[in-house]
Amino acid sequence: MSHDVACVGLTILDVLGRPVERIPDGGNVDFIDEIRLTVAGTAAGTAIDCAKLGLKTLAVGAVGEDEKGDFVVDTYRRFGVETWAVKRTKDAPTSATILNVRPNGDRPALHVRGASDHMWIDDKDVPPICDGQFVHMGGTGLLNRFDGPPTAAFLAKAKAAGCTVTFDLIAPTPNTMDIVGPCLPHIDYFMPSMEEAEIISGRSDPAEIAAFFRDAGATTCIFKWGAKGSYLSTPDGHERVPAQRFDVTDTTGCGDAYCAGFIAGLKQGWEPVKACRLGTAAAGLVSTGLGSDAGIIDLDHTIEVMESYPLLD
Ligand SMILES: Nc1ncnc2c1ncn2[C@@H]1O[C@H](COP(=O)(O)OP(=O)(O)OP(=O)(O)O)[C@@H](O)[C@H]1O
Ligand SMILES: [Mg+2]
Repeated sequence: MSHDVACVGLTILDVLGRPVERIPDGGNVDFIDEIRLTVAGTAAGTAIDCAKLGLKTLAVGAVGEDEKGDFVVDTYRRFGVETWAVKRTKDAPTSATILNVRPNGDRPALHVRGASDHMWIDDKDVPPICDGQFVHMGGTGLLNRFDGPPTAAFLAKAKAAGCTVTFDLIAPTPNTMDIVGPCLPHIDYFMPSMEEAEIISGRSDPAEIAAFFRDAGATTCIFKWGAKGSYLSTPDGHERVPAQRFDVTDTTGCGDAYCAGFIAGLKQGWEPVKACRLGTAAAGLVSTGLGSDAGIIDLDHTIEVMESYPLLD
């Protein structure tokens, strides 16, 4: 196999600053502690974290022919992520977000949708993209051209090629089932946040939410649940996997890191619940610093954290 995991979808340059208490009056300036640039988004953030966790990672997405796209590609290369499947498009700028992280961790965001809406995969690229153990599809909801039938067709091919398919989404509405529904039969691990899963299903009880998506075809559901941890529903049963205690600075990208840790756990040959615990540790580490790539050092350190940090209730 040419890689362990292909992370496909939303690719964003994040510009983050903290702490931001307010936009200064008029054209004035306020001074803050920290500003960072990171490669983020439901696919790209996971790709960076997968690489940090030692997985041979292929990034699949679209960026513009601009300075932001250069930064994304350079950063991938620095982390050892394979970039041949990151397309450069003239049609749009690289998708980007300005995140103003408040002292309480809230992060009001300003987003340009950009190139991720133009992402596509050429037929000839499908076999090499699927030449790995995992396909992680991330960012359904903000991939205008690829959302819905093209994503479902791609995931069907990934399954046919023998890949394990993990899936995360973003920006759901009550109509999101229109685009997610056709994908669910091709998904092994459906991994939105609990809040997102509630919005899409229109249900509020975790077991009923999971039943909704499993009835629609997803084999296993994992709902990321903030400080409550996560909720795992497999064909054999369900359980809450508690979060761990960290000094939380900024939770940007925690969900993406959770997916990376989970995939790295499966790669170890672990059962889903233990892989969820590695996802929990990876997500917690990301919460300790500013930006979606903070905190994680490598696989051994993340396993150590998984085994030693106390659980939240
Ligand atoms: N305050 C916290 N303390 C410890 N762990 C946390 C905290 N908040 C989040 N986490 C961990 O991060 C994981 C993902 O967070 P969350 O549920 O917010 O996902 P998400 O909404 O998909 O995030 P994202 O904004 O990155 O898309 C949780 O499942 C949990 O393990
Ligand atoms: Mg998320």
